[in-house]
Amino acid sequence: MNQTSKPDTSCGCNSGRDGYLIYLDNGATSFPKPPEVIVAMEHACRVLGVNPGRSGYDLCREAGRVIEETRMLLARFFGGPDPERLVFTANATDALNLAIFGLLGPGDHAISSALDHNSTLRPLWHLSEQGVEVEHVGFDERGYIDPDDVIRRFRPNTRAVVLNHGSNVIGTVQPLAPIGRACRARGIHLVVDVSQTAGVAPVNLDDLGADVLCFTGHKSLLGPMGTGGMYVRAGVDIRHTRAGWRLTTHLAVFGQFSESLSPALVSEPPRMSPPLISGQASVPDTGNLTGTGVSFDRRVSPAGISLRLMSIN
Ligand SMILES: Cc1ncc(COP(=O)(O)O)c(C=O)c1O
Repeated sequence: MNQTSKPDTSCGCNSGRDGYLIYLDNGATSFPKPPEVIVAMEHACRVLGVNPGRSGYDLCREAGRVIEETRMLLARFFGGPDPERLVFTANATDALNLAIFGLLGPGDHAISSALDHNSTLRPLWHLSEQGVEVEHVGFDERGYIDPDDVIRRFRPNTRAVVLNHGSNVIGTVQPLAPIGRACRARGIHLVVDVSQTAGVAPVNLDDLGADVLCFTGHKSLLGPMGTGGMYVRAGVDIRHTRAGWRLTTHLAVFGQFSESLSPALVSEPPRMSPPLISGQASVPDTGNLTGTGVSFDRRVSPAGISLRLMSIN
């Protein structure tokens, strides 16, 4: 996707011929962001930039509401039935690290592909140093992996298959549904990195047969950098690999902030749903996804977002 726009030259960067910038790097991040996103970010910083969930005053509750609305819109966008299973993270890299380190341990076998992004390959490489067996499937001359090549490699100890939906290098969108079905039948978790496809191609949890979808907010969902998350299917057990503060909704579960030094809270009570990993959802980051393609005029469709992306100038 390319865009032509009259640049803001205040940064001193050169602006190309006739003073126009032709931006061809939307695979890395979409730019410029739509005016709606900029307005939402400014609103979040100026009006809503308080810490959601830490107190009970009106503004704090409104900040929390914006985050919960975003969670609901994104869960619906990915076909996830339960917004509580939608976890905000710092970006797709963070989501993939949480999923990969949280699902795999010594003695497990994992399958990925040569087309995957470093945010998948590097965590897997680290785990391969810690007793996880990792295999990578190749791809054909047209840039597609063969589902049977993945399925043939299943072993009794295969715990996860981690695959890119759309390649950031060659753009091919992989046919993951047969792999999803086979994983389901064997109780293997399929983790799908939808960073390049969310917003430009249909991404649906059930259609892909995925257990975990990891996404970024700053590419074709048109949000700011520093946004992303994952949808974790009910029943999928992702171990905690990080501890800390909780999202707004957890306050209802764990009681008041003033109790946060109690042993029960410090030790992360077991009833805490594992994928709802401790973390801080901040309005200027996650809440701003409500200003993105996910919610333009409530046209929650990849086609709507793509059209919006093309019309930015
Ligand atoms: C396929 C793919 N996965 C993951 C990522 C990482 O995304 P993020 O910048 O949100 O960590 C990228 C970013 O380039 C990507 O293209």
